[in-house]
Amino acid sequence: MATQLFIFTLILISLSGETEAHKLFRTEKHGGSTRFNADPKPQFKEKYFPQIIDHFNFNSMGNGTFDQRYLITDQYWKKGYGPIFFYTGNEGDIWEFALNSGFISELASQQKALVIFAEHRYYGKSLPFGKDSFNIPEVGLLTVEQALADYAVMITELKKDLGAQACPVIVFGGSYGGMLSVYMRVRYPNIVAGALAASAPILSTAGMGDPKQFFRDVTADFENYSPDCRDAVRGAFQRLQTLAQQEDYGRIQTKFSLCKAPSSPKDIHQLNGLLRNAFTLMAMLDYPYSTHFMGSMPAFPVKVACEIMLNGPDLMSSLRDTAGIVYNATGELKCFDLYSLYVECADPTGCGLGFNSYAWDYQACTEIEMCHESNNVTDMFPPMPFTEQQREQYCAKRWGVIPRPGWLKTQYWGDALSTASNIIFSNGDLDPWANGGIRKSLSQSLIAITIPEGAHHLDLRESNPADPASVIKARQTEADIIAQWVKMARQRS
Ligand SMILES: *[C@@H]1O[C@H](CO)[C@@H](O)[C@H](O)[C@H]1NC(C)=O
Ligand SMILES: *[C@@H]1O[C@H](CO)[C@@H](O)[C@H](O)[C@H]1NC(C)=O
Ligand SMILES: *[C@@H]1O[C@H](CO)[C@@H](O)[C@H](O)[C@H]1NC(C)=O
Repeated sequence: MATQLFIFTLILISLSGETEAHKLFRTEKHGGSTRFNADPKPQFKEKYFPQIIDHFNFNSMGNGTFDQRYLITDQYWKKGYGPIFFYTGNEGDIWEFALNSGFISELASQQKALVIFAEHRYYGKSLPFGKDSFNIPEVGLLTVEQALADYAVMITELKKDLGAQACPVIVFGGSYGGMLSVYMRVRYPNIVAGALAASAPILSTAGMGDPKQFFRDVTADFENYSPDCRDAVRGAFQRLQTLAQQEDYGRIQTKFSLCKAPSSPKDIHQLNGLLRNAFTLMAMLDYPYSTHFMGSMPAFPVKVACEIMLNGPDLMSSLRDTAGIVYNATGELKCFDLYSLYVECADPTGCGLGFNSYAWDYQACTEIEMCHESNNVTDMFPPMPFTEQQREQYCAKRWGVIPRPGWLKTQYWGDALSTASNIIFSNGDLDPWANGGIRKSLSQSLIAITIPEGAHHLDLRESNPADPASVIKARQTEADIIAQWVKMARQRS
């Protein structure tokens, strides 16, 4: 799901401790920038919650706890009365999500809510065993169940501490975070009154998808710009393949500005993966304005990519420069380092880099199924199969685990959600994850919202003058439904 930030990580390293997110946050907070919506900017306080390490085995860790990070602001809250908007953090640093989900704060300002963004265990600074968290067996307490229990316990305790017992809780999440929001409502309806799940691929990740769907839909974004763009990308990969077959590795190094010449089919496979990943990210993050989320993207990256693909000196140079939109956003990349810019893992859509990528890889090796493959027929990419069997082999070797296909569906209901209630499933048609989720309403309170011009959870982002009308309308619908849920919850209690 690629919510890790390679470029972000690189910036992180180069800024020696000062994260881009914090910098951005500060400039935005103090910059007095005019906003489409004139609400005050959220001023989150960063806090830590003493969280139970193992919710399900009283013996293993006893009452041992770890520090789970969360962000909180009560600046909009009608104390003791207004609802609680709780973001169920996903696979990354929680600041990253808080800074890219401005809609939640805008809505909080409107509905006088308390806002909390909770960091998922094993990500960001919420490492139960510090640097040892990714050792075997310490990594074993990284499960969806534990993460949901963390949120349930945290909500319950914070409500007590803050005098908020009477305040209905609405959960929010994007992508895997959206999946967690759905599961929270399904698993803890005693705690959560409703869920907004934006771009949550709850079906494909539960093994109920078509392995061809993801890269087909990535391709569709470029094809929609123009079929010539799709053909140019396919042609570029074909030329690369021809050179690879001729073992003309020197020429490949020159054409693609690689730091080191490739020397084996394995290196070519890696190059194909790195290039394909750039298209994945541009499709997911095809927002109508430039963003700093999972790296830096120009406005309309798909359009920018296609303009390069169609106007470059030759196809392979164009392909390199198109990948540069993603990997060379700073303009300072000297050469493409095959194995450091992209790491292959159990998620063919990318795990990113650094500690967060280990955690996501482990989740993709256990509960969350990501068997997406490209085939050069239903998509424009070289054939790169990723079967359940390949997943199993990789995961056994990397983590000593065998994935359990079917478990997520058993545990969180797959599409058999008819007895659940109060969940919004929003999806954007530009988002390659959309068709792995719920696209049609399942009942009066299981509501699907489509945003035709939306990329990956665009609706969670703050209002922007470049927003298409469809996302403005979606946010309004979401706001109305959430206000209704809160009202209903108050009547019940
Ligand atoms: C667990 O609780 C007991 C009893 O309150 C206490 O004595 C002990 O120190 C606690 N252990 C941990 C690891 O927190
Ligand atoms: C990165 O971008 C800069 C500025 O456009 C360019 O000069 C450089 O060649 C690019 N690096 C690579 C490896 O393509
Ligand atoms: C993709 O398929 C076309 C035929 O449709 C073929 O000419 C081309 O070589 C294939 N490309 C790759 C990278 O396999």
